[in-house]
Amino acid sequence: GTITFVSYDGESQDAEIDEGQSLMQIATSNGVAGIDGDCGGECACGTCHVILDKQWLSRTGEQSSEEEQMLDMTPEREQTSRLACQIKVTEDMDGMTVKLPEFQM
Ligand code: FES
Repeated sequence: GTITFVSYDGESQDAEIDEGQSLMQIATSNGVAGIDGDCGGECACGTCHVILDKQWLSRTGEQSSEEEQMLDMTPEREQTSRLACQIKVTEDMDGMTVKLPEFQM
């Protein structure tokens, strides 16, 4: 399956789903611009911010309070914002589109 990352200026890039990896890991291993993952997935840097479609949000699992706190430090966050390092990808996410925020360009 594939997940499509769409940059703020509308360029899309597909990444192969690799179960057990985080969404941040598949983005960085596919060279998706705009996802840095500076903290290595520790929920501490906020450089893996993504915006999901509402329909996909429920499939990406629960948000921890740490993640919620990190997201709340970002005033530009959207309701469907998540930190990509906190999402484990599964084949259920085949066809999912993930948008990158303007501030992460
Ligand atoms: Fe640092 Fe996700 S990689 S918060």
